[in-house]
Amino acid sequence: MSYNTIAVFGLSWGDEGKGKFVDYLAQKADIVVRFQGGANAGHTVVSDGVKYKFQLIPSGAPLEKEVVIANGCVIDPKVLLTEIENLNNLNKKVNLKLSSTAHVVFPFHNILDGLEEESKGKHAAGTTKRGIGPTYSDKSARWGVRIFDLINPDLLKIKLEKLFNLKRRVIKSYNPDWEMDFNTIFEEYKKYGEKLKPYVIDTAYYLNKAIDSGKKVVFEAAQGNLLGIDHGMYPYGTSSNANALGISAGTGVPSKKIAKVVGIIKAYTSRVGGGFFPTELENDIAVKIRDQGKEYGTVTGRPRRVGWIDLFNIKYGIMINGVDMIIITLLDALEGVDPLYICTDYELDGRILESWPIQSEIIEKCKPIYKEFKGWEKRDDWSRIAKDGYDSIPDSMKTYIEAIENELNTKIAMISIGPNRNDTIELSNDIF
Ligand code: GDP
Ligand code: IMO
Ligand code: MG
Repeated sequence: MSYNTIAVFGLSWGDEGKGKFVDYLAQKADIVVRFQGGANAGHTVVSDGVKYKFQLIPSGAPLEKEVVIANGCVIDPKVLLTEIENLNNLNKKVNLKLSSTAHVVFPFHNILDGLEEESKGKHAAGTTKRGIGPTYSDKSARWGVRIFDLINPDLLKIKLEKLFNLKRRVIKSYNPDWEMDFNTIFEEYKKYGEKLKPYVIDTAYYLNKAIDSGKKVVFEAAQGNLLGIDHGMYPYGTSSNANALGISAGTGVPSKKIAKVVGIIKAYTSRVGGGFFPTELENDIAVKIRDQGKEYGTVTGRPRRVGWIDLFNIKYGIMINGVDMIIITLLDALEGVDPLYICTDYELDGRILESWPIQSEIIEKCKPIYKEFKGWEKRDDWSRIAKDGYDSIPDSMKTYIEAIENELNTKIAMISIGPNRNDTIELSNDIF
């Protein structure tokens, strides 16, 4: 049996342009699904002149597609309800299905996120302080409160009280003066539960049924492969499997029903938060790329760190995720930067490594090996170029793209030369 499904995830440290391409693919889809992460994500969609920044709502919402937030996500109900309200204010119908088994983020999780970061010192990941780590910790420790509990006040009272008392003790160990009133938080969250109740279903059953009946489904990852809990640069990442591997556990859709896996890369690399970054630039080229790519965090507004593209760690991500096709974004943002460099390998103690070393302490000792490429000139007509197709892009950009395709040995399915949906060139006609 063949399935009409596609997974979209970032092959680096997030912000690769997942929002743009999920919206692009959603044009042909019935359902768009988020399966991990929470309000740490910031996905930008520019649709019909309107700029949306989604934290929890899947990027199919501007097109009024069915959007599913599956069990692998952690939900800050306040953020979710605000996003629904914002869409309604724009006269967008929100066709949301929310998993009853997703976990709930409470204000004490956000507080703990900040306190834990502080005490980690140089091992801090520079989190978004959205309570992500503490909520996933409680899920694994089996203290967590799920959406099913949130919409059933009797269960909420019992489970939240237990969790609250536990977290209160932990927070007080950092700050003995800390206080929060249980009844206030219970009453507030009870109301959120009432408002979210109409959206809550068993999303695993819903998705499997939809996929089996031939519906077209896009799975939208948040964060990026290198931030993933199991295969990323631990501990400088997030708390979920932020890649295609997260789909099955995060939705209840078996991996054999995921027909295509698409990895997104930027034409350079960006990273926000802590942790080593082998190809990082800290000079005037970095300033230029940051300005041209508008590299400031969607959620926190922090300036993003930037550097050359790192095909060595991307190759590792292609292997573990079984990537079928690649999308390259932000090629326009490299305009006027000449020469350009592509990292193809790492060298350690005079030896070229066979496989990306994954362990941060080893990566810090590696030297990136680069190939040099000619850049392309500054333009103000990238949208027109996108309309005219691949033949009209600069020759040096073609050489750069083709070198990436050869090095990765993976088909480049689309390229992106601007933030708008149409600033896109398809290089393959069987994408979705
Ligand atoms: P996500 O987290 O992967 O969805 O990415 P973000 O939305 O956080 O960051 C990507 C940023 O780049 C957003 O502001 C997009 O609108 C923008 N963007 C996406 N593709 C392109 C592109 O090809 N060129 C330019 N200039 N901007 C792009
Ligand atoms: P999208 O989906 C970029 C980073 C944080 C920090 C680490 C852990 O927009 O690509 P967390 O709050 O998850 O505990 O932070 O992960 N991080 C992101 N970086 N894009 C994101 O999301 C990110 N979500 C988390 O900066 O280093
Ligand atoms: Mg983002």
